[in-house]
Parts: sequence; structure tokens; C-alpha cells
Amino acid sequence: MKSPKASSVTIALILLLITGWLLWSSAAAAEETPYIRGAALIDTHGCLACHSGNLMGAMKVPPLRGCELPEEEFQAWVLYGCPQAQPGRAQQSRFGMPAYEGHLDPEDVQDILAWSQIAGHEVPDQAALSDLARGEQVALKAGCFDCHGPLGQGGIKNTGSFTGAIPGFSGEQFKHLCDDGDPAAIEEWIRHGTSERFLSGEPLAGLGRSFMSSQLTKMPAYQDILSDEEIELLVRYCLHINSLGPMSAERYEAHRAALASSKMEVTGQEDSLAGPSLPREVAELFSSKCIRCHGPKKQKSDYRMDTAAAAFQSGDIADFLEVSVIQPGAPRESLLYQFVSATEEDSLNEVFPMPPSEDERLSPEELKVIRDWIASGAPWSDKQTLQSAYSD
Ligand code: HEC
Ligand code: HEC
Ligand code: HEC
Repeated sequence: MKSPKASSVTIALILLLITGWLLWSSAAAAEETPYIRGAALIDTHGCLACHSGNLMGAMKVPPLRGCELPEEEFQAWVLYGCPQAQPGRAQQSRFGMPAYEGHLDPEDVQDILAWSQIAGHEVPDQAALSDLARGEQVALKAGCFDCHGPLGQGGIKNTGSFTGAIPGFSGEQFKHLCDDGDPAAIEEWIRHGTSERFLSGEPLAGLGRSFMSSQLTKMPAYQDILSDEEIELLVRYCLHINSLGPMSAERYEAHRAALASSKMEVTGQEDSLAGPSLPREVAELFSSKCIRCHGPKKQKSDYRMDTAAAAFQSGDIADFLEVSVIQPGAPRESLLYQFVSATEEDSLNEVFPMPPSEDERLSPEELKVIRDWIASGAPWSDKQTLQSAYSD
């Protein structure tokens, strides 16, 4: 016969186990990216039933992968079944394309667009010179995307693994597994298909090891398959994908721009140790239009932009709005771009046009220079300090 004391201890133990299990399993959710959410939505709504490309012309359906339509038109097609937005008067089947208004919201469509772009992405061909493009070719050839998702956006199922899926390269889990993005740790994963640094660094190392061995799909070791140079390219590629974060449609554009723009990297310029440099047009714009109020003499809004170290730090408004002043890869998420492209009305939402005086505002071409610079990752070498072009 059990004593009442013993059974209350048993109950307490069981409760403890249950709480532990709940905590453990809530941490173990696979990390979502726009690509993964988009894929799930496309599956839920059966889009590929018609957009499979297999109807032999029985219905004329354009491919959904790699759609090049502008965002607004894409949105109109999906929500209203036609090329222009018609809220509330969805044109059922006039074009054969159903209207999903009421079933999908605009954020869902953003995720579907990200899926469309990433799933339809074409890896640059051999002629492409940039290191990033070469890294992408190696990743494709080595099957990295088959397990880690296209462009490392994650989500391929993995029976017996901690989260049930293979993580991508884009989020926090990657940082966790790779010692906060340490190149040596990434290299270790690629060479050996595991990371001793990660396993021995874990507070629950035994648990990490048991999850690593219980997952049925394991990371292959590429040590004898890929050359040292290819592994180096892959390490840099993974870091680039991680720096962009989970890839939205806008960040996908940034990725495409970066693939095309880092061509100079391989020409081995002397300056390469100092990091990539601020393009001359951007430097001239900042010097002539911004530094006099955001430089060594004055720092309006507590914001200074004559060096890279300062320019990436928030001033008062970015702090208040909790946004980045410059978010590499994402112009529209960058306060600096929002400010230079703002109009007077935006001031109501704490977004103030820069420069403040109307006759100094940037032209559409100048705006594009800044947009492209941020989209390509906002390169700016530590060595470049800007001077005000004003002699005040
Ligand atoms: C019943 C079949 C059908 C289904 C299901 C369907 N579509 Fe379509 N879709 C079409 C047809 C047909 C067109 C072409 C209309 C035209 O151009 O006349 C089209 C056009 C489009 C376009 C415009 C593409 C372009 O390049 O012009 C987009 C975007 C699109 N569909 C997205 C979706 C999404 C997202 C889903 C699922 C949420 C979906 N479709 C489900 C039949 C379908
Ligand atoms: C057969 C499937 C498979 C292939 C192919 C594969 N991996 Fe992995 N990879 C995995 C699994 C499984 C893990 C372990 C994830 C875990 O423990 O949660 C992993 C882990 C990693 C990690 C640790 C961080 C993270 O986000 O997962 C990196 C980095 C990595 N792989 C890079 C690559 C690269 C680069 C390639 C191509 C050369 C590649 N992998 C090919 C399955 C694969
Ligand atoms: C005549 C002075 C002046 C010039 C020139 C100027 N600014 Fe400003 N800037 C300000 C003031 C003042 C603020 C605070 C907002 C306000 O009160 O309008 C500000 C705020 C900002 C902020 C917000 C920083 C933060 O987090 O608080 C950014 C970003 C910015 N400016 C960028 C620029 C850029 C880029 C240029 C050049 C294209 C520029 N500014 C030119 C005066 C100036």
C-alpha cells in the first residue's frame, strides 16, 4: 500500500514532467519564412490544381512560379480575379481565375508572392562572375536547397528531428546552430555534416546529440566532395542569406540585385580588406544634401551620417518608431529611405521629408540611387568619411 505522502510526490513529479515537456515542445516549432507560409497557403487553396502547367491548353493558365507581375497587379489577380483591384465586387471567373477576397488577406498574398519569386528563382548561369552567384551555383549543384529549401528558406520535413523540419539559412535557428553565424562553425557543418562546437557548447549537450541522432535525414559531409574554394563560397553565401533575414518579396529583389552587383569582388581590388565601399553617387548626395545637418557640426535628431558606424545607428526618431535607419537589403523598411522619399503629409505619421526644405528634395533619379544602394546591402567601408560639401 502506498502512503499518501509517496503518492503526492509521484503527482508532483508527473506535473513537473508535464510542464517540462510543454516548455520543451513549445520551443520546438519550425521557424517560418514567407516562403513556407506561401507554400502552405498555395496548398490550402489548391492554386496549383490550375497553375500546374499540365492542362495542355485546356485552360490558359500562366505559371505561378516566377511571376514577374508588379506587386499590385499580383494582389489584384489573387484577391479579385482580375488585373485591377475591385474591392467588394470580385469578378467570379470572368478570366477563369477565382477571386480569393475574404479567403486571403493582403499579407497572405505577400507571402504567396514571395513563394512565387523564390520557387521560380533562376540560379545565375556559369557566365555570372560574382562570388555570391558562384556560391549559389554550388549550393544548387550540391543539393543544399533540396534539404534547406530554395534559397535556404527552410521547411523541408524531417521525421524525428527537434522541430520536425530542416531549418533554412535565414533565421535565428541558423544562428543558434552556427555559433551566432561564426564562419568557422558554418564551415564545420558543411565539411562534417555536424558541429562539435554547437554540440559541446549546448547546456543540454546530451539532448542535442540525441536529437541529432534521432533525426532521419542527416546533413551529409561535403569534406571530400567540394573543393576548399567551393566551401568558402558556400559559407559566404549562407551568411549573405542570413543577413537578409526571412525572405519577403522585397528582400528577394535585394537578393537578385546582390547576385548581379557583387561582380567586382573577384577582381581583387586592393581596398577589399576595408570592406565594400559606398558608391560615389551616394557619397556625393549625402555630402551635398545631408552632412551639414547630420555631420560633425550638427546632429539634428541626434543622427549623424558622415561615417558608416554612425549612419547605421538610430537617431531619436528611429528609436521612437523602433525601426532601423538603414536596413540593408530593404529600402522600404529603412527610415532613411522613407524620409528622403516622404511628402509633407507623411509628417503627420512622424515621417519627415529630407532634406527639410522643399527646393532641396531629391529627384526621382537620386531617390533611385539611394534605393538601389540600400537594396544591394548598403555597402560602406569603415575608411570612408564624408565631408560636407557646404562651406559653412
Ligand atoms: C480554377 C483555376 C485556378 C485556380 C484554382 C487558381 N487560378 Fe490563378 N489563374 C487562373 C487563370 C485561368 C488565370 C489567367 C487569367 C487570364 O489571364 O485571363 C490565372 C491568373 C493568375 C495570376 C496572374 C498571373 C499572370 O502572370 O498573369 C495570378 C498571380 C494567379 N492566378 C494566382 C493564383 C493563386 C495565388 C491561386 C490560389 C490562391 C490561384 N491563382 C488559383 C486559374 C486559376
Ligand atoms: C540531405 C539533406 C541535407 C543536405 C543535402 C544539406 N543539408 Fe545542411 N543540414 C541538414 C540537416 C538535417 C541539418 C541539421 C539541422 C538540425 O540539427 O536541426 C543541417 C544543418 C546545416 C547547417 C547548420 C545551420 C542550419 O541552419 O541548419 C548548415 C549551415 C548547413 N546544414 C548547410 C548546408 C549546406 C551549405 C549544404 C549544401 C552544401 C547542405 N547543408 C546540404 C540537412 C542537409
Ligand atoms: C537643414 C537641416 C537638415 C538637412 C539638410 C537634412 N536633415 Fe535630416 N533631419 C533634420 C531634422 C531637423 C530632423 C528631425 C526631424 C524633423 O524635425 O523634421 C532630421 C531627421 C533625420 C532622420 C531621422 C533620424 C532619427 O532616427 O531620428 C534621418 C534618417 C534623416 N534626417 C536623414 C537625412 C538625409 C538622408 C538627408 C539628406 C538627403 C538629410 N536628413 C538632410 C534636418 C536636416
